[in-house]
Amino acid sequence: MVQTEEFIDEKVAEISEQVGDANAVIALSGGVDSSTAAALAYEAVGDQLTPVYVDTGLMRKGETDEIRETFSYMDSLRIVDAKDRFLDALSGVTDPEKKRHVIGEQFIREFETVAEETDADYLVQGTIYPDRIESEGTIKSHHNVGGLPEVVDFEGIVEPMRDLYKDEVREVARALDLEEIISERMPFPGPGLAVRILGEVTDEKLEVAREATHVVEEELDEYDPWQAFAAVLGKATGVKGDNRVHGWVVSVRSVESRDGMTARAQEIDWETLQRIQSRITGQNDNVSRVVYDVTHKPPATIEYE
Ligand code: XMP
Repeated sequence: MVQTEEFIDEKVAEISEQVGDANAVIALSGGVDSSTAAALAYEAVGDQLTPVYVDTGLMRKGETDEIRETFSYMDSLRIVDAKDRFLDALSGVTDPEKKRHVIGEQFIREFETVAEETDADYLVQGTIYPDRIESEGTIKSHHNVGGLPEVVDFEGIVEPMRDLYKDEVREVARALDLEEIISERMPFPGPGLAVRILGEVTDEKLEVAREATHVVEEELDEYDPWQAFAAVLGKATGVKGDNRVHGWVVSVRSVESRDGMTARAQEIDWETLQRIQSRITGQNDNVSRVVYDVTHKPPATIEYE
């Protein structure tokens, strides 16, 4: 997009006109799309916009604090601590699609509460062009696409970036001085760590996935992956000290990709892999094994569920 500044001026004016004196809400995930949409809308209507960040407890290490800091200039920012409610809702749920559904439903409930409290007539969304195409024929139910408008009765939906591609959004983000802070982190799925935990999501597995992912992100940064993370697969026998333990099996995944549609598992040197193994098994007594996933997409997907 050649005229990024013009695009911004035009959208800010459009949003101001559409929202007028009313209130608006946006669900902020910390990703580049919702962050850019929030920044545009905030520029247009200021504190009439309430950006809502729902802490599902399924986030990466430090993520909530980063959001708090990045968007601290927005006085109306709401951070909803919903960790316990999400874990409760996920208790006993093992089917992957059911998990996604439960998370999506709970998310809508949390968001709806704030939308009602703030008397919001408008919903701002960070929808971009590929979202609209993908949601027509998606294999998985992406909970962050659609859903909200059908549940909450908004007067209008504001989608300033609905015709943009990702690289154009990044240009806008950069022009709004947002890019660097929010694009530092790799893409992260809406349902968060839940799709990197096979079977039921529990506090214990979340802790393993979160801490192990942190190690993987740190160690593999130099490989510049599209996504690199750790998943919790199940349990296997190991030896810790003099004892046989039945501990978690953690899978390390690091892929390169252009758009997430296909991906290649990255070739990582042995020393780095061993360092990752040793840090992950060392930080948690309940982890007995670390494996590296060498599967491309296809035939695998990037995430585990
Ligand atoms: P898969 O696992 O299908 O993932 O190869 C492709 C890309 O999409 C992300 N992903 C999701 N993003 N909600 C999202 O917002 C989801 O439910 C979801 N599932 C997968 C994944 O992280 C990868 O970048």
